[in-house]
Amino acid sequence: MPDLDAATPAPLDAAARDALARAFLPSRWDYHYARSKLSSDPLYDGVAGALAGSRGPLLDLGCGLGLLAHHLSAVGLDLAYSGVDNDAGKIARATTAAGNAGLRQAHFDCIDLSRGLPAHSGSVTILDVLQFLPPEAQQPLLREAARRVAPGGRLVIRTGLAGTCWRARVTRGVDVLSRAIGWMNAGPRRYPERAQLESLLAREGLSTRFQPLWGRTPFNNWLVVASR
Ligand SMILES: C[S@@+](CC[C@H](N)C(=O)[O-])C[C@H]1O[C@@H](n2cnc3c(N)ncnc32)[C@H](O)[C@@H]1O
Repeated sequence: MPDLDAATPAPLDAAARDALARAFLPSRWDYHYARSKLSSDPLYDGVAGALAGSRGPLLDLGCGLGLLAHHLSAVGLDLAYSGVDNDAGKIARATTAAGNAGLRQAHFDCIDLSRGLPAHSGSVTILDVLQFLPPEAQQPLLREAARRVAPGGRLVIRTGLAGTCWRARVTRGVDVLSRAIGWMNAGPRRYPERAQLESLLAREGLSTRFQPLWGRTPFNNWLVVASR
């Protein structure tokens, strides 16, 4: 059984966050992005807490720059890590930064998740990605991700949820803006509904816990942790 009560790793202090962001130099943009993301968004601390005590390697779907790999290593969760994303530029920068940081357990590949997932057994993360996939690709992706979760592993998702509250409106607005300025290679399509997500994962044998994970941000972000 996974140790669901394993201690949550302590958050990184400012010096540790800066050291981690420096792996993304000489790109000043990526360095500042990593610094501000690590200091303003509770995402990676939340994910580290969810993965503490898990067993097996981690597949990070839509990994972007691979910041999660750096954070997990810095808090002492040394999981074998494989990150995939369909943005070839981000994968190249993620590979360089992981090399700069000496993350020998981290590997990256350019893959379009709407066309299928790589073979894997362990834990899976899907962080701030679902809404960018075409609606018809979301459910197959979730099913295939669930099937890759081994006993002792976790499926950890962060996502906005469908809704009309002000947080949901801000989340969509910023996702649209990210596309407009070229940071994202796709705009938001559809945010999942909580009941549908829960029942899909239950059909795959996973029990699920939802908790808000917006910290001091204005977003409608939820952490979903599922295990067998
Ligand atoms: C908001 S970013 C999140 C990055 C990372 N998960 C994190 O939280 O740091 C969303 C990522 O999903 C990726 N993405 C969007 N559609 C994708 C697809 N069809 N296949 C693979 N990756 C995709 C984007 O390239 C981007 O890097």
